[in-house]
Amino acid sequence: MVSLLENPLRVGLQNDRIPAPQILVIFGASGDLTQRKLVPALYQMRLERRLPPELTIVGVARREWSHDFFREHLKQGVEEFGGGLGGNPALWDEFAKGLYYCPGNLDKPEDYQRLKQFLGELDEKRGTQGNRVFYLSVAPRFFAEAAQQLGGAGMLADPSKQRLVIEKPFGRDLASAQTLNYKVRNVCQEEQIYRIDHYLGKETVQNLLVFRFANAIFEPLWNRQFVDHVQITVAETVGLEGRAGYYETAGAIRDMVQNHLMQLFCLTAMETPNSLDAASIRNEKVKVLQATRLADDSDLSQSAIRGQYSSGWMKNKAVPGYRDEGDVPEGSTNNTFAALALRVDNWRWQGVPFYLRTGKRLPKKVSEISIHFKSVPHLMFQSATKQLNNNILALRIQPNEGIAMRFEVKTPGSSLRTRSVEMDFRYDAAFGQPSTDAYSRLLIDAMLGDQTLFTRGDEVEQSWRVLTPLLEVWDAPAASNSIPLYEAGTWGPIEAELLLNRTNRRWRRL
Ligand code: BG6
Repeated sequence: MVSLLENPLRVGLQNDRIPAPQILVIFGASGDLTQRKLVPALYQMRLERRLPPELTIVGVARREWSHDFFREHLKQGVEEFGGGLGGNPALWDEFAKGLYYCPGNLDKPEDYQRLKQFLGELDEKRGTQGNRVFYLSVAPRFFAEAAQQLGGAGMLADPSKQRLVIEKPFGRDLASAQTLNYKVRNVCQEEQIYRIDHYLGKETVQNLLVFRFANAIFEPLWNRQFVDHVQITVAETVGLEGRAGYYETAGAIRDMVQNHLMQLFCLTAMETPNSLDAASIRNEKVKVLQATRLADDSDLSQSAIRGQYSSGWMKNKAVPGYRDEGDVPEGSTNNTFAALALRVDNWRWQGVPFYLRTGKRLPKKVSEISIHFKSVPHLMFQSATKQLNNNILALRIQPNEGIAMRFEVKTPGSSLRTRSVEMDFRYDAAFGQPSTDAYSRLLIDAMLGDQTLFTRGDEVEQSWRVLTPLLEVWDAPAASNSIPLYEAGTWGPIEAELLLNRTNRRWRRL
């Protein structure tokens, strides 16, 4: 076996993008995201020497915590949810010296003034030179308020040094996304706004661009002449995980489709950008979204279906239904599954449906984009096989990150029989190192001022534009009693199958 050090594919994998010393201010820092994801990712990067020693993190939230309590809370997070202290407790101690906590209310101007003064003091103490990233990890309804208060306190006045990261979902529909864009752009420039979608930080998602545009053999096939349809699946095994308060206001469309799945869609369907800079890529994403609509906009039931999980079995364990989860209102009609068909009205994709589906409590955690090619124009093998399977190119986002190509071969023996086989590329086998955590990549990019992997304001609006007609119907009280149920541990309601069966297609078995 080739040792990791000898693996030629690892040559050149060093990281050389180190941001300037700065302060990362996390609003909502007492929440799960900070403890489970953000700080473990930051510490891991510090271990890998990808962050400067001056990096300073200031947590802001309502609870009256001390700096030391905050540090201990984050240490537990790194040990439990990250890779641990990396056998280097001394480095943790050094890192922890840069962690501070500043209690405050999102709606109190005086608390922002206090924060501003504190950040100024930290600049002196830690040499952070006024560089700031403000990360809004708060409930979406507070995004506008926090941005306006930061602006009002003069903390977003310098575009070259001050940036604002905003979590998802950005808005609830087209109108609210427009309003939010308007309010945030009132206090800072688009160049300072980093709308985060952690799917864009996943290595395999970024690889989509490399795969499409660094290879000559696939792009000529990437169009309506050769592609029958495209499927994008993001399946999860988890249920609500104690997030009823948020999830009840979101559902699968707002939590997953509008952001993660639409980003996968954009990268798959967009035209070739002129270059890899932020503007070129984001322009192409906007263009393809502008051409996108629900497959049948006169009858939405032909374009999209939703579902909610009922009790069932996951890995031989009984799990409760959505309505029985803690804090879910009785009789909730919120969706935990959505499947939709999109059309793209342009030359490349005319007539090619894109099917998207996502759900909680499905049998497997798997995210995949599969390109289903057309059948051969003339079938010569009737006597041997009734039907040939179409070629499929599958881009596996997670887990088992990789790329697989399905094609037909002759089975050994004197008769002419065919069978589908797979040619498989696996990231872990090829590179022998785990892919970088999505949040690490995005936090570094925000600190470096690179917006390529963040969503632009017009992009987020276009994505809401496609989905808003659906939300209007699904949110209306008349629809309330009719949400289809699916048993936990199954692939969603039967209606999801019918969405494809109507056109003689089927969801790929994953
Ligand atoms: C988050 C959603 O954005 O993505 C969660 O809010 C979901 O509901 C999660 O579970 C899935 O992310 P990943 O990286 O585990 O696929």
